[in-house]
Amino acid sequence: MIEQRHEDGSLRHLITLEGLRREEVEQLLQRSQRYVCAPGARPVRSQALRGIQIANLFTEPSTRTRVSFELAGRRLGAEVVNLEVQLSSRAKGESMLDTIYTLQALHFDVFVIRDAEPGVLAHVAGHVSPQVSVLSAGEAHLSHPTQGLLDALTVRQHKGHIEALRIAIVGDLRHSRVARSAYHVFRLLEAHEIRLIAPPALMPEPDEFAGCLRFTTLEEGLEEVDVVMMLRIQKERFSAAALPDGAEYFQRYGLTPDRLARAHPEAIVMHPQPMNRGVEIASEVADGPQSVIRSQVSNGVAVRMAVLETVAARLTA
Ligand code: NCD
Repeated sequence: MIEQRHEDGSLRHLITLEGLRREEVEQLLQRSQRYVCAPGARPVRSQALRGIQIANLFTEPSTRTRVSFELAGRRLGAEVVNLEVQLSSRAKGESMLDTIYTLQALHFDVFVIRDAEPGVLAHVAGHVSPQVSVLSAGEAHLSHPTQGLLDALTVRQHKGHIEALRIAIVGDLRHSRVARSAYHVFRLLEAHEIRLIAPPALMPEPDEFAGCLRFTTLEEGLEEVDVVMMLRIQKERFSAAALPDGAEYFQRYGLTPDRLARAHPEAIVMHPQPMNRGVEIASEVADGPQSVIRSQVSNGVAVRMAVLETVAARLTA
């Protein structure tokens, strides 16, 4: 596994939440809390990252993650450049590393990368100059650390202590980086119980998600849970032939108001988005009183501000 810290122990890269210590995650969450913006309030701004250059390199589609990394950098006074990877030299066959070396020559300090290929992030992190940081904005099916942090922040805000909670993660767990990062952060914060609910074909291999309870029916799995985290079917990671039919999937695994009624009455509903209404979730639930999906989105900016500030601290000191 790639070393994510500098020699003095401070955080340099964020590629996975695996291996982070609890106090490191707590610090990031505390820092994030300072940047949380109440609805209607003006976002907090500072010049903490003035003079820092951040490049967003996304080779898979993204709306929320890319925009929130961009806003996070700008709100801290950094210069942020988004590379349209389809249009750039990568599409002409230039390797990711050549692109990175070019950007390093242009004095970029932080690379925010989303890529479908496992291992690309660690590879880049292993080759950048010592002062440069690499942050994951989603790596294959493996990890999405800032999503895990924003999910933890959202659960804390709405439910208080994570230790007391039963958390259900529902849907395409097998192909989901969101689920893997959620699992790591909720384990680290000692959630009382983590349940995985999925059809057998979308369940992860038995050697993954150690310690979680597994259910193949939504009705059973949702009993008394405090948090219901829904996932999109990751159709880009399947062959078309193996894809479940959307309407049929909704029949058995769609989160409807009736099914949600099995959870704790004050349970919250989460979704990383993009969501497919009528496939994994009914609109009444997505837009209903138990949904915290929009607070996940706004917490995304706060968490990314905290992460950028943490890794860039040495550069601005
Ligand atoms: C997720 C992703 O890209 O992993 N989206 C996000 O970052 N909020 C989830 C998904 O695509 O289903």
